[in-house]
Amino acid sequence: MKSSTPDVSLVEDLLSIGIALSAEKDHNRLLERILAGARKITNADAGTLYLCEKDRLLFKIMHNKTMNTFKGGRGEPIDIPPVKMVKENVSAFVALTGKTVNIPDVYNAEDFDFSGPRNYDKITGYRTRSMLVVPMENHESQKIGVLQLINAVDVGTDEIIPFDPAHQRVIEALASQAAIALTNAKLINDIEQLFDSFVQTITTAIDARTPYNANHSRRVALLAGELARAISQSNEGAWQGVEFSQEELEQLVMAGWLHDIGKVATPLEVMNKATRLDSRLELVLQRLEYIYQTSATDWHRKRFTLLEGGRTQSLEELDQRCGREMGEIDEARALIIKANDPSTFIDDQLAGQLFAIASRTYLDTAGREQPFLSREELDALTVKKGTLTDKERGVMEDHVIITARMLEKIPFIRKYSRVPEFSAMHHEHLDGKGYPNGLAGDSIPLEARILALVDVYDALTAGDRPYKKAMPVEDALRILGFMVKDGKLDSGLYELFKTSRVWERVEQ
Ligand SMILES: [Fe+2]
Ligand SMILES: [Fe+2]
Repeated sequence: MKSSTPDVSLVEDLLSIGIALSAEKDHNRLLERILAGARKITNADAGTLYLCEKDRLLFKIMHNKTMNTFKGGRGEPIDIPPVKMVKENVSAFVALTGKTVNIPDVYNAEDFDFSGPRNYDKITGYRTRSMLVVPMENHESQKIGVLQLINAVDVGTDEIIPFDPAHQRVIEALASQAAIALTNAKLINDIEQLFDSFVQTITTAIDARTPYNANHSRRVALLAGELARAISQSNEGAWQGVEFSQEELEQLVMAGWLHDIGKVATPLEVMNKATRLDSRLELVLQRLEYIYQTSATDWHRKRFTLLEGGRTQSLEELDQRCGREMGEIDEARALIIKANDPSTFIDDQLAGQLFAIASRTYLDTAGREQPFLSREELDALTVKKGTLTDKERGVMEDHVIITARMLEKIPFIRKYSRVPEFSAMHHEHLDGKGYPNGLAGDSIPLEARILALVDVYDALTAGDRPYKKAMPVEDALRILGFMVKDGKLDSGLYELFKTSRVWERVEQ
């Protein structure tokens, strides 16, 4: 048997496990390392790591070298019910009292109920003998779990021996380090989850400001993530050797969630503008109705005057003139309704007709001369494509500048450090004609190119627009193809997006 003073190699083992624990962020791997480290130091044949959850102990990792079992963590799942917090159970006792228990042979021990290990032995032919059970207590004296080691093996004879008291002290130190590492990992995980859910809540709320695409941020995040995964999986041409690490993937998804956060400041009348005049159409139609009714009244008044004066020979000329005038008002109304529809392309001829309508005047109720259409109404109606005037487009495009400004103020954790940069570039195009900075070619990183592509795809295929049906995938791909040909979107990304059918992965 070894001496009761920890030797140098034990201290070295403890130190190296301690360093490994503080570097490990993956919860399951961390648990595995703790148990493996404790077994290595004590040369224990088997061991179990439990974590406290409310009033019970959960089996997290179970190793048994002789039985060749490796359960929990990344191994096969554990189907054993949790341990109740009763003092008869040795692990629960240690969790409740914070005291270590070291038993040379559990078959001779009377303080605890060992029917569990005995049953296990009966079924499997194993012999549970020595046992060391240590509490895992963190820096705030919280008991977060229990480390149970079974059957210390003598290095020289391979015999099962009691656990060495020197080993016990080392394992107690390890358990305390492990508890702190687990607490830290949980805190980091909690903070990340809190941040993620906060981002998702905020961006979903911002998306909900417009009925047009209520799932946009979520879908852009998912599509971007799937396209990046497709890149990592692809060995074709330019994608050979390009791989996103888990952290890079998470960073891209986060940039997807946040890319349009600046829309919080975009006025609703601009963001939700469904037609060229939008809410102003009603006012314009009422004005035309007023002009029409005034003309009709005027016509009847003039007719009455002619009849009264017996000048019936002038009636026909009056009827023709007034009839023509009212017909023109009807035509103007029809033309405005047509031009208001965003699916109408405003060519030069149509724009000329709208100018002519705008240049006509009428007298308002106060007798002042007014144009049929105001300058702003004419500007809105003569927008060639879409619904936004240059000014409104500028306001709309500002969202990406606001996104950049907002995200710059967030002290992102290291793995998200480039989120502001990627998010702020989602409207940059490879030909340098995007916004806000007109970046071109290689100055746009791959992540921003991914966002640019999936952003357009989602805007085209969104099914929740009240005035626009979801565009079929084939049509959206054709439009993306045009944008690639125009040198706006990345052709390699587009091909991969198509061949790996990224949208289907998201729908699944
Ligand atoms: Fe955007
Ligand atoms: Fe977007």
